[in-house]
This record gives sequence, C-alpha cells and structure tokens, in this order.
Amino acid sequence: MARQKVVLPKDGIPRAGLLKIMKEASKGDANWKDGKMWGLVNRASDEHTNLLKEVFTMFFSENALSPFAFPSLKKFESEVISMTIDLLGGNRRACGSMTSGGTESILLAVKTYRDWARDKFPEIKEPEMILPSSIHPSLEKAAKYFDVKPIYVPIDDKSYRADVKGMKEKISENTILIVGSAPEYPRGVVDPITELGAIAKEHGIGLHVDACLGGYMLPFVRKLGYEIPDFDFSVPGVTSISADIHKYGYGAKGSSTILYRKDELLKYQYCATIDWSGGIYASAAMQGSRPAGTIAAAWAALNSLGENGYLKLAKITMDTTKKLINGIEQIPELYILGKPDMSVYSFTSDKFHIYNVADAMERRGWHLDRMQFPPAIHMTINPPQSKVVDPFLKDLNESVEEVLKNPEKEAEGQSALYGMIANAPDRDSVKDFVLDFLKDLYKAK
Ligand SMILES: Cc1ncc(COP(=O)(O)O)c(C=O)c1O
Repeated sequence: MARQKVVLPKDGIPRAGLLKIMKEASKGDANWKDGKMWGLVNRASDEHTNLLKEVFTMFFSENALSPFAFPSLKKFESEVISMTIDLLGGNRRACGSMTSGGTESILLAVKTYRDWARDKFPEIKEPEMILPSSIHPSLEKAAKYFDVKPIYVPIDDKSYRADVKGMKEKISENTILIVGSAPEYPRGVVDPITELGAIAKEHGIGLHVDACLGGYMLPFVRKLGYEIPDFDFSVPGVTSISADIHKYGYGAKGSSTILYRKDELLKYQYCATIDWSGGIYASAAMQGSRPAGTIAAAWAALNSLGENGYLKLAKITMDTTKKLINGIEQIPELYILGKPDMSVYSFTSDKFHIYNVADAMERRGWHLDRMQFPPAIHMTINPPQSKVVDPFLKDLNESVEEVLKNPEKEAEGQSALYGMIANAPDRDSVKDFVLDFLKDLYKAK
C-alpha cells in the first residue's frame, strides 16, 4: 500500500488546534511521570524540572555558537566545566567543553585522540582503540565516524568488569587509546580504571573514562560512604572523561561534558576555518549553532542544587536502589548481575525466560528495558522512584508467580523478536535487518 505523504500545511494550524493534536499524539508515549519507567528520563523532582524549564525558556532563542555575542553563555559553560573538573579530581590544567550528550562527548574524545596521534605519531596509519565488550555503542559509532579500529576484549564473565590482562595483551604499535566505563550501562559496574591507567601510562597512550552515567553521581555516592573504585583524574593515566549533565547531573536533555586532563589535547578537538568569506569560523564541539537553553539549564542545575543538593539526591537514589535490590534478591528465582556500584543494575533468572517477567510487568504498567547476553531486565533509579518501591516489588512478585505457572513458556511478541535477534547466528543479516527497520521507522505515516 502506497504511503500517504505528509506535507507542509497550506495554512498554519491555529494554536489551540495545534496543541490539541500534539497532546493527542503524546497519549501513546511512555508515562514516566508516575515513576513507572526505569530508563531514558532522569529527573530530580518536579520543582527542579520547573526551574530548568524556566531558565531554558529564558535562553530559548540565544545561540551558543558565539561566546562573544552572548557572554552569559560563555560564563555558564566555562563554570559548568570548571565545577565538573573539580568534582572529578582535575587540576588547573584540565579543560573541556559542553556537548549535546554522552554520544557527542565520546565522538569528540575519539576524534581528539585520532588527531593527536596523527600529529604525534604520524607513522601510525591505522589507529586502534581497545574497548571492553561492555562499552557503550557510541564508541562503535565513533570508530566508524573517525576510522579508528575498535578492538573489543570480552569482559570478565563473573564481575562483568573490563578484563585488564586481556586488554593489555591487545596493545599494539597502532594503539592510540584505551577506554573504560564508570560505570558501564548494562550492569552498572565500574571498570578497573586504576589498572587501565597504569597500562595507558606505561605505553604513553590515552585512557578515556566514559563516566557519562556516573560522572555526577559517583563522587556523591562516595561521599555518602559507599566504596567506589577510583575512576577519575585522581587516577594517573586517565587523560579524558565524559560526564553527562542530562543524566545524574539533572540538567535538561542535550547536555554533557568532555574533559581533558591537560589542555594540549583540547586543541585537537576544535575546528577552525580561517579562510572562509563568511569570516573566521571556530567551533569547540560538533554542532555549529548550539541551543543555549541546555547550557543555561546545566548551570542552573549545578548551582541550584549545590553539593548538598546532589548529596541529598544521591542518598535518596541509593536508599531506593538498596530497597529495590533487596526486594529482587528476596525472590528466589531472580538474581542481580554482578555487584553494581551505584544506582544502575540488571537482574535475570535461570528458572524461566526473564523477558516473560518484563512482559508481565508491562501488563501492570511498568516500562522495563530488556538486555541481551545474558537476557536480563535493566533498571536506572531516580529519586522520585523512592515512592514506587513497594508497588513495584508487589507487582514483581506477582509477575514472577504468574510466570512460574508456565516456566517453560517461550517469550512472545516483541520479547520473542528481541530474543530471536539476540540469538540469530548471522550477525551481518541482523545488522541489515535493524538498519532497514530504522530506515522505515522515520518515514511519516
Ligand atoms: C555509559 C554510557 N555512555 C554513554 C552513553 C551515551 O549517552 P547519550 O545517550 O547521552 O548520548 C550512555 C547512555 O545511556 C551510557 O549509559
């Protein structure tokens, strides 16, 4: 059947009608407001979100492309960077930029190391980076965009942390960078950054720490008394860190930071076009024109919460995480994967297909992300979810009881498809299938 084309309306839709259409469209969206969604949306409280919206709107039209036209934005951005460097153990030589998110920060880091290596080691024609297999897919994206070969090393199958020995063995004369996570997304465990730092130092190569998830959380969790492995600039050998404000920094979506231990590296991130008739054009990150609202909201988040505000939020989040993990561990058929270091974790079962539990929970209104290798359910905890611990655990117990009535049952529907994709032996066809799916997904219907 031919698709109907969506075209620009001849006349604009009046405001009231337009808002109605958009509200209607949002009815099918996941309802994160009631705390039943365990990923994608990070938030501190309604009060905090309202403040972010206010400052975002205040700077809605400004453009962060020009720090000269809008010195306020330059002040906000440089102060956000400075506060984050301090939080992550950097000294006065450390520097960085704000970006649109974790992916952009990571893309920039890889581009920076590639260009640094081109300058310092021109004999390297095919640069490589060594990655634990748990690393976020933005590293694969960066590898493709910037032509740096990714060498994946399987993680330790018990702790789920990077296998330091395995990574060390893969170092070659082409290696320019190694990467670790603090923490990795799938199980929420921090990689052995100190040991990776020693390797990086020994070989004179970069070590990027992907602290997109933990950058604004781990320092506070540690201050609360939890034992957190060293992961930041206090570790010799760590040369850059990505930390997302739009995750546990509780900023607006579209804000992250990329930080370097020394300012020599930052030059390789920047781009300057000096012979253009439009004038000298220099930009720090990937975007040209940049939304000012996200920068304003980041500054507002850090300054309105302050250290004590973040500590308070971290405490609520960790208390909630502990209660949820305890509740999950009390269900004999379920177990947590590894030893999560903060408020991100996943759980599974050896008694039945865990996706059936995810489906049963979905029928009860909960949105839970499914993981593969092994199949598991993933959860990211936010402070407002302290209010839904009891109903969540009640429904989880009921869902497990429901699944236990037919433990041999295969996963159905979307879960079955997900499982099938995970287990299909021909990975190239799976990739093609996913890319075709994506190609069609964004066609207007
Ligand atoms: C560990 C880690 N790194 C990087 C990213 C990418 O961040 P973003 O989605 O903001 O691009 C994520 C996202 O969840 C993540 O969990």
